[in-house]
Order: sequence, then C-alpha cells, then structure tokens
Amino acid sequence: MMRSHAIQASYFAAAALFILSLRWMSAPKTARRAVAAGAAGMLLAVVGTLLDPHIQGYVWIAIACAVGTAIGIPLSKVPLTAVPQRTALSHAFGGLAAGLVGTAKYFLWLDEGVLTPFRTGAIAIEVILGYLTFTGSLMAAGKLQEIVPTRPITYRGQNLVNLSLLAIAVISATYLVVRPDQWQLFPLIILLSLAFGVLLIVPIGGADMPTVISLLNSYAGLAAVAMGFVLDNKVLIIAGALDGSSGLILSIIMCRAMNRSFTNVLFGAFGQVQTGAVAGQGRTSKSGTPRDAAELLGNASTVVIVPGYGMAVAQAQHRIREIYDQLTRRGIEVRFAIHPVAGRMPGHMNVLLAEAEVPYEALVEMDDINHDLPQTDVVLVVGANDVVNPAARNDPKSPIYGMPIINADKARFVIANKRSMNPGFAGIDNDLYYADNTLMIFGDAKAVLGEVVKNLGDDTGH
Ligand code: TAP
Repeated sequence: MMRSHAIQASYFAAAALFILSLRWMSAPKTARRAVAAGAAGMLLAVVGTLLDPHIQGYVWIAIACAVGTAIGIPLSKVPLTAVPQRTALSHAFGGLAAGLVGTAKYFLWLDEGVLTPFRTGAIAIEVILGYLTFTGSLMAAGKLQEIVPTRPITYRGQNLVNLSLLAIAVISATYLVVRPDQWQLFPLIILLSLAFGVLLIVPIGGADMPTVISLLNSYAGLAAVAMGFVLDNKVLIIAGALDGSSGLILSIIMCRAMNRSFTNVLFGAFGQVQTGAVAGQGRTSKSGTPRDAAELLGNASTVVIVPGYGMAVAQAQHRIREIYDQLTRRGIEVRFAIHPVAGRMPGHMNVLLAEAEVPYEALVEMDDINHDLPQTDVVLVVGANDVVNPAARNDPKSPIYGMPIINADKARFVIANKRSMNPGFAGIDNDLYYADNTLMIFGDAKAVLGEVVKNLGDDTGH
C-alpha cells in the first residue's frame, strides 16, 4: 500500500514537473530551470517505475542504464550546430523503444492468451508509430549529417506508393484487432512501418529536416502515449501527450515562419529546384574591408544586427557581443533582429547570443523590429541569407516567396558578412547582396568581426 502511494506520488510530481518545465521553457530567463525541472521529473518517473513490485530483473535494467549512459554522454557533447540531428537520434531511440516494447508485449500476451481488442489496438498504434519514427528519424539525422543525400529524391506516383504502404499496415493492424491471434500479420506491420519511415523522408529536402524532426518528435510522443495504455502507466501517457503536442505545435510554428503548409513540407520536395543558385549571373556587388564596416558602424546612431546560420558556424557570437559593447559605449543604439527560423533550429540565435551574454532586452523579434528598419542607419547581417532575402517579398516565382523576412534591405546601409556569394539553405540567390546600399565584407564571421572590433577599438583609442 505504502509503495503504491509512493509510486503514485512520484508520478504526480513528475507530471507536474514536466508541465512546469514546458512553461519555463518559454522564456530564456527560466530556461535553465526548465531543463532542471524536466530532468528531475524524468528521474522521479524512473524511480517511481522501478518501485513497481511487478518489476523483476534489476540486473538487466542496470545494464541497460549503463549502456544508455555510455551512449548518452558523448551525444550530449555535440556542437550546437549538430543539435537537430542529435535530437533526431534521440527520437529514433524513443521510437525503437516503443516498437520493441509493443512487440514484446504482443507476443507475451499472445502466449498468455490475454490479448483483448483494446490491448491489440494500443499495441498496433504503438508499433506503427514507434517503428516509423525509428527509421524516419535515422533518415532525418542522416540527411542533416549529410551521410545520406540531402536533396529530395522523387519519382512519379511516390506519394501513392508511400500512402499505400501505410494503408496496408493500418488495414493489417485493424484486422489484428479483430483477430489478435493472427500473429503472422505482426512482422508484416513492423516491416511496412520501418519501410514507410524511410520512404516518408526520402522525398523531403535537407532544408525541411528541422520541421520534419519536430513532427517525428510528436510521433514519438504519440507512440509513448500508446505505450502508456499498453503498460497501463499514467506518467507515460502524460509525458507522451506533452511531447506529442509540443512537437506538433513547434512544427506548426516553423511552418508558419516559412509560410509553408504541412503538406508542402511533407510532400512538396522543397529545395529540389535550385536554378536561382547560380550566384551573381553577371551582377556585381560592392565589397569592402572590416575597416570600412567599422567606420560605417561607428558613424551610425542606430544599428540593427541580423544573425543567421553563418554566425553559428563561425561561432562569432562573442565577437558580436564585443561590437555591441563598443557601439553602445559610444551611445549608439544597437539591437538584434531575430528571425524565428534563423539558423537550423528554433531559438538557435537566442541560445548563442545568450551564451555570449548579450542582454536579452536587446533581442527583438522580426515582427517588432521590421517597422523600425527604414529609420535604421546600419543593418549588420552576419551569416544570414534566406531570412533577409527580399525575393520572399518581391518574387512570386521564388521558392521562398511569402516567407516573412527581416526587411534589412530597407535600412540606410547594409553591411553583409559571409564567406562567398554562395546561396543559403534554400539554395537561391539573394538580391540584398547586389543592392546599392549594401557593402559585402567577405570572410569567416569570427575573423571578420574580430577585425571590425579591432578597428572600432583603434578609432576610440582603446
Ligand atoms: P542560411 O540562409 O542558411 O544562410 C547562411 C549563410 O551563412 C550562408 O549563405 C553562408 O554563406 C553563410 N556562412 C556559412 N558559414 C559562414 C561563416 N563561417 N562565416 C560567415 N558566413 C557563413 O541561414 P539563415 O538566413 O539563418 O536561414 C535559415 C534557413 O534554414 C532558412 O532557409 C530556414 O527556412 C531554414 N530552416 C530553419 C529552421 C529553423 S527552426 N531555424 C527550420 C527549418 C528550416 P557562405 O557559404 O558564402 O559563407
């Protein structure tokens, strides 16, 4: 009795901590607390489960914990730019766990003759979602890591083939619910789900992988909900529902920020046609030196910095912080324009700028800063490309047409730093770099901005 109360209390506390964790995640100031709360919730959920008197074989559990820890520690040390693929790997493991638990439970209950339609139905959902999340997430991680080709691979009738596979798996699962003893269908359902996971990702381009990963996150969450019903474990149902819904909400936010629909992400083969990528096409851009940039910045009264994926690659956030310090010391107003999909994952720029201790009040979201840009003296674009591409506003034929952007081109002067005229993730050329009011400063962001810092320091005699 005491033990059962202790289990329920730990599950209740774990569920409350998971909800608080999500709540605290929504503000950078409380985000660290959110991570601690989430981890504490998970610890309580695991301890509560281990207290269950039905559990035997603690040695096996200890071995699994040791293996998991040995894999988890190196995974936690990947650079921030590799976090999307690392997250995909976690979803793959989550999906595989759900699939294996469902498989074990099916055959165990089949032997014991206790398979009810409800149990079989829950197992079928768990297994389909679990295995498709497993292979889908592995493919997504492979595309982001460029182990598998990142371009969308498409052929005629592809969507029909993919949806038919899923339909056969669902029909087989439905039949199994009616006739749970037809175990021969079970391996077929597993194989179809594994194949569907791979085929679902093949036609999607690398550019859409972060959105797809977030969607797979929600599938893994739903698989966990089904597993919670199979195992009659309430904390699994709650955690899975939170995971499933937050993953879905995140995918919707990302789709909106790119002005794309779900179906377009899943079936649109975005990033396939990269004809506009032939950089320049006879056009010329003005290029300058870090000294020119320092001069322009030093003479401005208002500066907006637009960071993008290149800042993350170069790890230039600390140099940006130094520029911020030098300019604000001179009385220049400096703010940061944050696009919701700048970089490769949600909040990517916020995390890096917070790491460099840029004051959070200086970070302004795209919608709030856009109307100030025409009155801004200098916009400094650091490794951002698609998120400042005016084609999204002006060119109905552009693949990114309709995506909300930061209107950097409307400022008096634009300084754009990148290494070459190569396109960004969407694979298209950017008119901003050829505009009369834009000065390109070519080079790695960390090196170039380091020079800008030096020049600004020289000017003030520091
Ligand atoms: P991108 O359009 O990808 O452009 C990044 C630019 O950084 C490149 O043009 C590259 O040019 C430059 N760069 C790379 N390394 C650099 C370095 N060491 N120093 C200086 N510059 C460097 O980035 P963005 O503007 O941040 O846009 C993000 C893209 O990702 C969008 O297309 C968005 O839709 C997509 N996406 C994002 C998310 C999330 S959640 N963030 C999700 C899905 C899709 P060079 O090679 O010439 O240097």
